[in-house]
Amino acid sequence: TELMAYAAALPKAELHLHIEGSLEPELMFKLAQRNKIELPYKSVEEIRSAYQFSNLQDFLDIYYQGMSVLQTEEDFFDLTMAYLNRVRADNVRHVEIFFDPQGHTARGVPFGTAIGGILTAFSLAKIQFGMTTKLIMCFLRHLPEEDAFDTLKQAEPWLDQISGVGLDSSEVGHPPSKFERVFARAKELGLKLVAHAGEEGPPEYVYEALDQLTIDRLDHGNRSLEDQALIERLVREEMTLTVCPLSNLKLCVVDDLTSHPIKRMLDLGLRATINSDDPSYFGGYMNENFKGIIDALDLSKDDVRTLCENSFRGSFLSDGEKRAQL
Ligand code: HPA
Ligand code: ZN
Repeated sequence: TELMAYAAALPKAELHLHIEGSLEPELMFKLAQRNKIELPYKSVEEIRSAYQFSNLQDFLDIYYQGMSVLQTEEDFFDLTMAYLNRVRADNVRHVEIFFDPQGHTARGVPFGTAIGGILTAFSLAKIQFGMTTKLIMCFLRHLPEEDAFDTLKQAEPWLDQISGVGLDSSEVGHPPSKFERVFARAKELGLKLVAHAGEEGPPEYVYEALDQLTIDRLDHGNRSLEDQALIERLVREEMTLTVCPLSNLKLCVVDDLTSHPIKRMLDLGLRATINSDDPSYFGGYMNENFKGIIDALDLSKDDVRTLCENSFRGSFLSDGEKRAQL
């Protein structure tokens, strides 16, 4: 459609992307062979057909297993380069990427191996495509806060190349308040703060992320819509929400894209953005997420432009860098 062509051509920033979730089955297979790792799958087709989830935990079990093929700095470089090269075609000009260091250090892969490969790809993307990048280190919320403190300690040599910390993995039963102290420490270190909240967890978790973690940006946030006072607060505080339509569909946060709340969020005045979350697992990169909502919802040209503008507004670029993109 004409609206989709308009969306595809607009410059965008991606603010909610787990780099380990961009691992395509083809690369997973290649890295398994390169590193002599046994996968429980015999073919790329078998991997793809295993990607059937009815909730976040089903997905996470497969996601953590998939990342076991990532062993060397070169693996992390290849993974990151493949993602950056792919979204360049979607007119993504700036990315703020999540990585899960504990998903690697727990398997004996050093923190420096993972971050080294990612940062080398960032440098090359800047030189080769003029793409700007930032890195956000996520804590796994199903693990103790003490482990998050250890991870923050391991990050010390790279702090000037890490923009912020986030919170991901199994949400229900692991509220933001569990990580209040480590987020306070990250803030003292000058890091930006983001957290997944309100994907499967209740509005109360979004309040905790705001009040106890003092987040700068809210990842997902869908269930905020259940609480009118919370909606009003998010609007008033101009909080950016990193919404992920195809992820919401695959993890059954919504029944189908025609009932996706993104249009309602915009109409309420929330600063929503479009993101792919884990594109290899959820069936699409940035523009495929736009296609999904454009086909399913009655979005206007203004809505589409607002979504793209919100992505730069809500980014951690400087005001000058934002002005250059808007
Ligand atoms: N939610 C929580 N944890 C995650 C996700 C997600 O969408 N993707 C990767 N880790
Ligand atoms: Zn996510």
